Amino acid sequence: MAETVTIFEVGPRDGLQNEKALLSTADKITLIDILSETGLRKIETTSFVSPKWVPQMADAADVLAGIQRKKGIVYAALAPNMRGFEAAMVAKADEIAVFASASESFSQKNINCSIEDSIKRFEPVLDAAREAGIPVRGYVSCITDCPYDGAVPPENVLDVSQKLLALGCYEISLGDTIGAATPEKLAPLLQLLCDQIDASRLAGHFHDTRNRALDNMECALAFGIRTFDSSVAGLGGCPYAPGAKGNVATEAVVSRLSTLGYETGVDIHKVVKAASFAHKITGATHEL
Ligand code: HMG
Ligand code: MG
Repeated sequence: MAETVTIFEVGPRDGLQNEKALLSTADKITLIDILSETGLRKIETTSFVSPKWVPQMADAADVLAGIQRKKGIVYAALAPNMRGFEAAMVAKADEIAVFASASESFSQKNINCSIEDSIKRFEPVLDAAREAGIPVRGYVSCITDCPYDGAVPPENVLDVSQKLLALGCYEISLGDTIGAATPEKLAPLLQLLCDQIDASRLAGHFHDTRNRALDNMECALAFGIRTFDSSVAGLGGCPYAPGAKGNVATEAVVSRLSTLGYETGVDIHKVVKAASFAHKITGATHEL
């Protein structure tokens, strides 16, 4: 039997957060509803962050209220602090994610605090989530390169990952935020991480700025990683990572995994349909 790989669709969040023109809530809801029909089991829908920082995500509660939830699908959301967590709970997010960085400058630019302070800020969030029975994913951004600080030491990634796991995150999503990773840079990092952390608790989150995301995914597969984040139509970028292009496209990931003999449970034809809707709603503003 083919081995299974989980695809974590992040398009409605990571994909749309960077769109310059405000998209309608109805379009976001439709995109998520289409994605719910593709066989994807995990969809990151939105972010409960400051609307002053990321205006595109200001309608987070309305998006979660409007979607047709399908049984068996986890509808996730970002929550950087207690305020975000509480709002995510009111909106009935099934799971949340906190997001830290392996580089100091990106932490400051993205969430306005040091790495150390971010971990302190996440502590009550993880405690409250545990009490509420809500799983928490932890992102670590800038795993090889930072748009402000340059090359990031692998030890920093290990340190932040271990801290997030110790707080109670069930999985660490390793973010190549600006798409600067290559298998040559990634392999020694994954070697270090996998010596200390079971690969089943790691996921790959590769932006595709230099078209290396699929190569990076294959590198991570060789280390036993079996969860990958992707954005339908390759949408996205991070507002605090200048030059960052979209995540690797979900349709490209499904196709490559299928060629490699992995099972994803995702229907490529339906994802392509979702991608054409994503193009339609972002067409005027999204550079392909
Ligand atoms: P801050 O200014 O340090 O926090 O921001 P604050 O507590 O002083 O609050 C400032 C204002 O925001 C206040 O409002 C708060 O009420 C409000 P004001 O008094 O000015 O009117 N506020 C909130 N509003 C709504 N929801 C909240 C919330 N918290 C505070 N949860 C904060 C700190 C984290 C809030 C801010 O920096 C922020 O929202 N940053 C957003 C960062 C973001 O969303 N970045 C993109 C996602 S991360 C990413 O893309 C990387 C990833 O994909 C992985 C990868 O690729 O590497 C995950
Ligand atoms: Mg990202």
